Amino acid sequence: MSLRLTAFTLFPRFFEPFLEEGVFSRGLKQGLLAFDCVNPRDFAEDVRRTVDGHPVGGGDGMVLLPDVCSRALDSVQSPETIVIHVSPGGKIFNNVWAKHFAETAKHVVFLCGRYAGFDHRFVSARSHHEFSIGDFVLSGGEPAAVCMMDSISRFVPGVLGNAQSASADSFEDGLLEAPQYTHPHEFAGQEVPKVLLSGHHAEISRFRRIEQIRRTAQQRPDLLLQLWNTLSRSEQKMAEAIWKSGCGKTVTRSASR
Ligand SMILES: C[S@@+](CC[C@H](N)C(=O)[O-])C[C@H]1O[C@@H](n2cnc3c(N)ncnc32)[C@H](O)[C@@H]1O
Repeated sequence: MSLRLTAFTLFPRFFEPFLEEGVFSRGLKQGLLAFDCVNPRDFAEDVRRTVDGHPVGGGDGMVLLPDVCSRALDSVQSPETIVIHVSPGGKIFNNVWAKHFAETAKHVVFLCGRYAGFDHRFVSARSHHEFSIGDFVLSGGEPAAVCMMDSISRFVPGVLGNAQSASADSFEDGLLEAPQYTHPHEFAGQEVPKVLLSGHHAEISRFRRIEQIRRTAQQRPDLLLQLWNTLSRSEQKMAEAIWKSGCGKTVTRSASR
């Protein structure tokens, strides 16, 4: 059974490069993923194929028409369809959600807004989730939908193949990934850490765990604080020392919870 992903979009051509390259394209070729688009413009009923109207109450930008959008969504939706409103006003999409949809969904539709977005009545009546990809505003939902589709596809069994795995990636154990190195052993005056050349697997794992804690403390104290009670006392001390030295971003433990 493949996972079907549908982009609800006024600009279906936006997705073409994404279908032709990389992991997502391989998933399509292997039949593990299916992709299609629905364009609300095809469901407009006037000669000019109008999809938007002026905001009621005044204001800038045009709002996508709820009746036209509903007809478009009807054409692809079935009882098993999950509808995601892609929006800066949504919860931040993350790996936990990506894995959830990869494991539980059969068909996901991504409502990609344009202009001032959708009429609220359409998304409130028809969407199950509202997700953002960050605290910034894009001019359309398509780049955000590509991000979500790509991250979901990585958790569909078989899509990454044996050579790659999501299990050592950032966020898998709640931490950022440890820094990675390849050849040459010396570059720009910096050497690959000696322990990684030792072949000693236990030492390498220990080193990587320390580096994960260090990097997460520096870059994403919010993530580390969520795991605080699962860290060893020495890991907690290391994080506290990083924060005390001013190397990390300042977050108070109570503020982040
Ligand atoms: C110009 S934006 C509309 C912004 C909307 N007026 C607001 O302030 O919330 C057009 C569309 O881009 C998409 N979009 C913009 N920023 C996004 C973000 N950070 N995450 C997800 N989708 C986003 C949404 O689909 C939105 O309807």
